[in-house]
Amino acid sequence: MTQVTMIVNGDSRTASVPPETTLLMLLREHFNLTGAKLGCDVGDCGACTVIVDGKPVNACLMLAVQAEGRSVLTIEGLATQNELHPIQKAFEDQASLQCGFCGPGVILSAKALLDNIPDPSKQEIRDALSGNLCRCTGYTKMIEAIQESARVLRGGSADQAV
Ligand code: FES
Ligand code: FES
Repeated sequence: MTQVTMIVNGDSRTASVPPETTLLMLLREHFNLTGAKLGCDVGDCGACTVIVDGKPVNACLMLAVQAEGRSVLTIEGLATQNELHPIQKAFEDQASLQCGFCGPGVILSAKALLDNIPDPSKQEIRDALSGNLCRCTGYTKMIEAIQESARVLRGGSADQAV
């Protein structure tokens, strides 16, 4: 067993795990954070996306020990106790998801994008979501929600058209 310690959603967390444990399994099975989903398990679908040190990663491809000492954000860490994050709010308002399985990964990819590019073009949004497969929606409403939340995060009104 190997001991790993990292910051997860702002809190220091430690676990002893077999060395082959992925970050995804650590989050889901040891820290009970099940928002990141196990889809393909080979890096193709993006359902397991979390943010590590500001960058979106496929948690199924990263070993837990590779996250030692790093800062991990999962979907559970995005909302405050009383309020959804603006990206989550925009997805809810615009009914951007159907089954929702891809949602946590898509929203975290969007967050990583908006943290770096506050006013992305549609193409930049498409590029940012290129690793997140959605079988239900066709992406259009997701892209609109991300544009909407970008406006809110820049300090604009949620209703303001561009
Ligand atoms: Fe990780 Fe599909 S479960 S990319
Ligand atoms: Fe079902 Fe995206 S909403 S996979």
